[in-house]
Amino acid sequence: MPFIELESLEKVFTVRVRGNAGLFRREKREVRAVDGISFAVERGEMVGYIGPNGAGKSTTIKMLTGILTPSGGRLRVAGIDPARERTRLAQRIGVVFGQRTTLWWDLPLKDSYRLMHRMYRIPDARFRENLDRCVELLELGELLDVPVRQLSLGQRMRGDIAAALLHDPEVLYLDEPTIGLDVVSKARVREFLRDLNTSRGTTVLLTTHDLTDIEQLCSRVMVIDRGRLMYDGELSGLHAVGESERLLMVDLERELPPITDVPGARFVRSEGPRQWLAFPATTSAAPLVAAVAAKYPLLDLSVREPDIEAVIAKMYGGTREERRESLR
Ligand SMILES: Nc1ncnc2c1ncn2[C@@H]1O[C@H](COP(=O)(O)OP(=O)(O)O)[C@@H](O)[C@H]1O
Ligand SMILES: [Mg+2]
Repeated sequence: MPFIELESLEKVFTVRVRGNAGLFRREKREVRAVDGISFAVERGEMVGYIGPNGAGKSTTIKMLTGILTPSGGRLRVAGIDPARERTRLAQRIGVVFGQRTTLWWDLPLKDSYRLMHRMYRIPDARFRENLDRCVELLELGELLDVPVRQLSLGQRMRGDIAAALLHDPEVLYLDEPTIGLDVVSKARVREFLRDLNTSRGTTVLLTTHDLTDIEQLCSRVMVIDRGRLMYDGELSGLHAVGESERLLMVDLERELPPITDVPGARFVRSEGPRQWLAFPATTSAAPLVAAVAAKYPLLDLSVREPDIEAVIAKMYGGTREERRESLR
């Protein structure tokens, strides 16, 4: 049996909207936040769950933890129905919401951990061991005595990840764990998650806006859009389906005519001696760079990864704005 299993899962919110102009009567409207999603995740997998804003990612995570009750379909995590047995499930899962902390704002970090020690009834030796490990790997040593409100976003996030792992959960859900983090904090968080998954076998389900998170961590990615699962497979497959492109920015020694004679590259625009070339995300940048360098006086270059929103927009045709329009 898969560790996480969803079958036609649905969540419908009823929201009140203002009625016709001049009338104060309020009308109700249904938002199908999750609209029939099915997937299965095996124990030990590390899966990315991505999609544009409002796609239904957080709503899915909340159902997986039992915070929200599904409106339809079936859901099992470790054989447990989350909404029915939320407390029992809580012993086996860990969850981190990037936009919100589970730590006590006014308390030093270590006091939050002590409270969790008791709340989850974690055996002393195990608590100690897990805390020591997290403190070491997430570099929390100097932060333990600092009240949470004084932590930077990156520090707070590391503190939250440790908090979610003190009771040895079999699965960790992370909802936008790298949002707003600086490059160094992001790298540290990714490193930690990779180690957690490989050395402890923890199942990880990760929602993110950052395609780099997925590229560095997940072999499997699921894309949702407007409450529906649009893609489930390898990241490279997503690029192929989306025909997404990476962007090569080159700084030439001087202003030159557009570079149009490098096979596989498409000239996008130029600004003085700087030019931008697009190439399929599924091909490697190295031969392209070599081809440009062989023909042109190159000073510097950088490659920009395809933006996930752009990949998704392209995958389903039209921009997000156009799709939003079509919903109205
Ligand atoms: N508590 C709620 N009440 C009403 N609508 C909600 C609620 N939570 C989420 N939604 C709506 O459900 C949709 C999916 O939201 P969410 O799961 O937060 O998306 P994501 O995390 O992918 O950005 C959005 O249209 C959002 O406005
Ligand atoms: Mg969200």
